[in-house]
Amino acid sequence: MQFKKLLDAIKAYDPDVVLIDVTDKHEFNLLEFDRIGFASGSYFSKFAEQLLTFAKVNLPSQKDVFFICTAGNPLDLYFNSIAKIAEAKYCNELGRYLCKGFGTYGPFRLVGGIQKGHPDADEISDAVEFYKNL
Ligand SMILES: Cc1cc2nc3c(=O)[nH]c(=O)nc-3n(C[C@H](O)[C@H](O)[C@H](O)COP(=O)(O)O)c2cc1C
Repeated sequence: MQFKKLLDAIKAYDPDVVLIDVTDKHEFNLLEFDRIGFASGSYFSKFAEQLLTFAKVNLPSQKDVFFICTAGNPLDLYFNSIAKIAEAKYCNELGRYLCKGFGTYGPFRLVGGIQKGHPDADEISDAVEFYKNL
């Protein structure tokens, strides 16, 4: 998982961060958290379906939220999927971070994937900066 590299760096900076793997946990009480981040690769121009479902089920209303995405071809529109869910719950968006992520997707598989080596060290430290400045 490419976005996990960003999350591990953020957690190293702030050990109070709690990482929840939504492929593992389908229900989680998020009420106690002040700020909730959602991170995913982009799949067919959206955040992962499991993460979107997790947000629909578990995101409490009126929370501060932020979003992190890695993608083969980084585009802001990938955030629409998760932003819509947060908006419907009257959440306040603090920010969004987008960078390249290595993917072996479609025809690119034949040539060994796109965005090899991403996220790189700069993109990882930019993600930590993004988090610091939220
Ligand atoms: C099934 C599939 C669909 C994807 N769709 C997109 C897409 O629509 N746009 C894009 O920029 N990247 C797309 N990618 C590339 C991934 O978003 C990118 O490689 C991401 O960093 C993968 O993160 P992960 O390793 O955490 O899954 C896709 C990859 C896969 C496997």
